[in-house]
Amino acid sequence: MQNCLIKQDGGICDVVWKDGHESSYHSTWLRYNCQCKKCFREFSGTYTIDILSLPEVLSVTKAEVHNEGKALKTWFQGESPHMTEHDADWLRSQCYCDNCLDCDIIKRDVINSQKCAGKLPTVDYNTIDKDEERFKFNVLKQVVDSGICLIQNVPITPGQVLKVASMFGPIYSTLYGNIFDVLDRKAENAAYTNLLLPFHQDQPQYESMPGVQLLHALRFDSSVTGGESQILDLFRAAETFRRENPKYFQTLCEVPCKFETMDKKRSHPVFQEHQKPHFVVDYFGKLVAVNWHPGIAVATRVRFDDVPRYYEAYRGFLKLLERKEGMFEFRLKTGDLIIFNNRRVAHARSAFENNGGVRHLQGTYINLDDLKSNYMTLAIKLGENVTPPKVGNGSSF
Ligand code: OGA
Ligand code: ZN
Ligand code: ZN
Repeated sequence: MQNCLIKQDGGICDVVWKDGHESSYHSTWLRYNCQCKKCFREFSGTYTIDILSLPEVLSVTKAEVHNEGKALKTWFQGESPHMTEHDADWLRSQCYCDNCLDCDIIKRDVINSQKCAGKLPTVDYNTIDKDEERFKFNVLKQVVDSGICLIQNVPITPGQVLKVASMFGPIYSTLYGNIFDVLDRKAENAAYTNLLLPFHQDQPQYESMPGVQLLHALRFDSSVTGGESQILDLFRAAETFRRENPKYFQTLCEVPCKFETMDKKRSHPVFQEHQKPHFVVDYFGKLVAVNWHPGIAVATRVRFDDVPRYYEAYRGFLKLLERKEGMFEFRLKTGDLIIFNNRRVAHARSAFENNGGVRHLQGTYINLDDLKSNYMTLAIKLGENVTPPKVGNGSSF
């Protein structure tokens, strides 16, 4: 930090950085976010500053650069014993000029990084023996960058998927239990048949749809024909949709879809419904969540005038998905396990015939926020320089 300057009668404090960048901070912002020992939380999760005890209108009376540019100190009118203190690096990282905000958002946007194109990212399970943390990081990095990672040579023990999942985050239990078996048994869910499954995310009928899905191929006999897996980046598809047809995109942000799972016949009957838009944009207009599952999209409860434009736009997105741009397509092998971000990518399966053989997958879910947190903390521990990613959990940050 080179210089600071009070402006607008103390309402704003400008800072000039060594690289020439200029930041402007509101007095209120500076005081409320004071980093001094008295004001800043000592323990995470507790904010000690009492905002209502401060003057309603805050104005900086004095501002100084300290410690060879490493800190900014400010004093406020009506609060003489208190000195507000900010670390320069922190202050710079929090600059909220349009340029810095835009850069920050773009850096976190993994779709823009073009890492999702090409070959399915793969990690060998056996590398876990050499360095477990490195193995975990490699998997997490692929899930973050590409939306999916294939782990090969996972032991084909029933329940193994839970062990693998627990390495990356806590198990997220749903109406299908902690763990579910995907095999043709003509059961309560289309996944448990041999039918084609179109592109979908699992279980958007939950307010909190599962964040990360794992599917482990316990058995996939060579006699089985079909049953290939497909993975498609919904964020990328939605951005293409927005470019090609902004009106449809807007409609699917505004008019919600109803997702539903009703099953009275189960041993534990279910009544689940959740209405929400297919696309969610945040305060910045950035896409932060996608909700897509044609298989459980039911009669939506919306205003009369919105019905035609909803279905028109809905068809438009279905059509775009048919182009399958940037899709990963593969046939799982016995011992393969895929882990993918259910909030970001859609998965599909082609129909299959057993021909006397067996296709048996075991699946589970984990929480996406925990996966992101594990990715970041592991990266820091391993000295990897990574940016906190936008994962599709409804937030740019
Ligand atoms: C699922 C599913 C895909 C498959 O169980 O959610 O989509 O390959 N299965 O069987
Ligand atoms: Zn303070
Ligand atoms: Zn599915």
